[in-house]
Amino acid sequence: MILRQVRDSPADAEAVREISAAAFSALTPGSGRLPTERENIFQLARTRHLAGTDPQGCWLAVQDGQPVGFALSARREGVWILSLTAVLPQYQGKGVGRLLLDRAAEHGRGCLRGMMTVSIDPAAARRYRKAGFTLYPTMRLSGPVDRSGLLDSGDIPVHPGNAGHLHLLDSVDRRLRGAAHGVDHELMLAHYDELLVVDTLAGSGYCYRDAGTVKLLAATSKRLAVRLLREALARVPEGADAKVEWLTAEQEWAVDVGLELGLTLENRGYLALRGLRPPVAYLPSGGLL
Ligand SMILES: CC(C)(COP(=O)(O)OP(=O)(O)OC[C@H]1O[C@@H](n2cnc3c(N)ncnc32)[C@H](O)[C@@H]1OP(=O)(O)O)[C@@H](O)C(=O)NCCC(=O)NCCS
Repeated sequence: MILRQVRDSPADAEAVREISAAAFSALTPGSGRLPTERENIFQLARTRHLAGTDPQGCWLAVQDGQPVGFALSARREGVWILSLTAVLPQYQGKGVGRLLLDRAAEHGRGCLRGMMTVSIDPAAARRYRKAGFTLYPTMRLSGPVDRSGLLDSGDIPVHPGNAGHLHLLDSVDRRLRGAAHGVDHELMLAHYDELLVVDTLAGSGYCYRDAGTVKLLAATSKRLAVRLLREALARVPEGADAKVEWLTAEQEWAVDVGLELGLTLENRGYLALRGLRPPVAYLPSGGLL
């Protein structure tokens, strides 16, 4: 078994996609849920993005010439982000995940803070707790939006955002989690349906929406966060299910918005943090935190 850096190449991005598909479908056998074409395209682009920005944080485990596991991680202004890790089912439980995580974590050395979202795999929870992360159990909201609950849209203006708002987005993130997303916005702007921005004298915030999913939300107050979430859910296309993930108990404001709009609440996975508590007016994106 050798470990080598993930290259910014179509072949390595495809290897990561295949390992990930095999590992996650084994985690929920019989779910019949396959990644959509759009999700696959985003995943390929994200792997190449991270391999390009953080080659020392992205590692592939290779056995007899065949990739069998990977870890993708990034440093953003003093926060180490573990984006995704997976090992082919037949190679799991043999220490490959630990080797990959240890190597990726070297890239995060010197970072006072760390963030990752954790799947329902008990092996993942064990691995990350042993790496010093605090595990916050998370909830997920999903289902059709009850539009009768959306009649009062509030008086805070929300408008579409673009690359011209990057300074605002970075400022909000620095205040909430001590680090901007920086270059990751290029990827999100290119792939997600829309960016919504609030910028008032009382504070600022933003969120991304992709089809029914609210991907990332950050605001300088709970009031603005509620306004953004309601607006994003109002814009979920008719007939599409909404999804809001990775809510800890600190995000009760979001739980309440979801329940008010008829979404179903379930518990699922963890948010794993080191050196910070869950920022309150913040919903992480799955892979870029
Ligand atoms: C999580 C994952 C990457 C770990 O890789 P791996 O090669 O299996 O990891 P390791 O063998 O190094 O370590 C697994 C640890 O979990 C333990 N473990 C395995 N199955 C377990 C279970 N059902 N319950 C509790 N612990 C378990 C192992 O004993 C080992 O702990 P130890 O080293 O202290 O003995 C891999 O299992 C995987 O791909 N899972 C599916 C995808 C996924 O959930 N990825 C994580 C996304 S956040």
